[in-house]
Amino acid sequence: MDFSFNDDQLSIQSIAREFAQKRIAPVAAEFDASGEFPLDNIREMGQMGLMGIEVPSEYGGAGMDPISYVLAMIEIAAADAAHSTIMSVNNSLFCNGILTHGTEEQKQKYVKAIATGEAIGAYALTEPQSGSDASNMHTRAVKSEDGKHFVINGKKSWITSGPVAKYIVLFAITKPGIGAKGVSAFIIDTEVEGFHRGKTEPKLGIRASATCEIEFVDYKCPVENLLGEEGQGFKIAMGVLDAGRIGIASQALGVARAAYEATLEWSRERKAFGQPIGSFQMTQSKIADMKCKLDAATLMTLRAAWTKQQVSKTGGRFGNEASMAKLMASEAAMWITHQAIQIHGGMGYSKEMPLERYFRDAKITEIYEGTSEIQRMVIARNETGLR
Ligand code: CAA
Ligand code: FAD
Repeated sequence: MDFSFNDDQLSIQSIAREFAQKRIAPVAAEFDASGEFPLDNIREMGQMGLMGIEVPSEYGGAGMDPISYVLAMIEIAAADAAHSTIMSVNNSLFCNGILTHGTEEQKQKYVKAIATGEAIGAYALTEPQSGSDASNMHTRAVKSEDGKHFVINGKKSWITSGPVAKYIVLFAITKPGIGAKGVSAFIIDTEVEGFHRGKTEPKLGIRASATCEIEFVDYKCPVENLLGEEGQGFKIAMGVLDAGRIGIASQALGVARAAYEATLEWSRERKAFGQPIGSFQMTQSKIADMKCKLDAATLMTLRAAWTKQQVSKTGGRFGNEASMAKLMASEAAMWITHQAIQIHGGMGYSKEMPLERYFRDAKITEIYEGTSEIQRMVIARNETGLR
């Protein structure tokens, strides 16, 4: 077993860290306050390869491995979780889905545009009545009589980057009444007539990551934009989320690490009763638990990325490892950011320090890409073989 990173992995980690600390960290609080989408930074990150880390260079990406993706995501999230949400959707939900299931033309046209940062991608599965129960969707795609396109009608909610996305991977029902087996996947061009965006959602955290409802009204999607085979859409959605959950675990780790590092510094400098607060046994106990949870979740996330890399040769699954990593990392991030505020006292509660932002940002990692309850359900189903 080797716990060291190779030169390529260390290189992308260092590139991401430098950009995150120089260009994102100084403006993160401003973006959080305004809720403005950080378009210029995202474009620049695309030019640096950060929007398509695992995308081969012929499709505009950095051609690196899943561990490199984890390391880069952690660095970006440690500076600002909202930037890392946008990065995660472009990398693991959009590019990964089309790379795995798309035709050569689809990869050339859509992956290239997103991996290079030229355009923004999104992934639309959730609907107003179906979040956790994802296969209970109503959005309908009906093939036209001439067989040239699908006519799509329906609403998707909570779509990350929905307000700005040029292309979206969409899931819709092509055969009603048979549940998950009736779902197909499509690539949507948002500049085509029949596509509508709702208002940007006001949110607790990751405020610079724009989220909205989208609606399709007699939208004509060319048959060439079917992603994978008809009826395979739900499996595509779930397989893509397996990879996405490694991204969200990494995001949680970045936020948790930032909160932990700020806490270490504070606990050495802040004095009470004539001594650094870090010398009190109650603070030390918290710090020890923070470090253990952070490292345990980091190892689980790296294991999930390593497993993904291994099974890429055999076609096996890595969903169990991904769900375990996402569950542990998101709950660690929530706990660590909570303790970090406590150790900072009143200053932890102040907007003059980033702790309250870390706490607000950590919460989403327990909700999106499958809530903690859904991760537990996936893990327990895999472990017991029961449903
Ligand atoms: N890979 C491939 N296929 C899979 C799979 C996987 N990981 N998981 C399930 N499947 C297949 C099953 O094998 C089954 O196929 P067969 O009938 O041929 O065996 C089919 O999919 C249906 O599976 P289930 O019966 O297990 O489906 P279910 O209705 O019980 O739902 C669920 C399972 C795990 C609860 C799923 O609905 C789920 O993950 N829900 C959470 C949704 C979610 O995570 N949404 C995230 C939206 S994106 C987002 O949030 C982005 C963002 O924030 C930035
Ligand atoms: P519900 O499914 O209604 O769940 C409510 C509660 O019930 C939760 O605690 C849940 O865990 C619990 N619950 C549900 N079923 C069970 C069960 N069987 N057992 C135990 N407990 C259960 N979706 C996309 O498709 N694309 C995106 O880009 C995207 N981005 C998002 C960005 C943000 C900021 C947010 C908030 C959401 C985003 N989502 C996106 C949607 C997200 O994936 C869903 O919110 C999430 O999957 C939960 O679904 P829900 O909100 O409908 O909650």
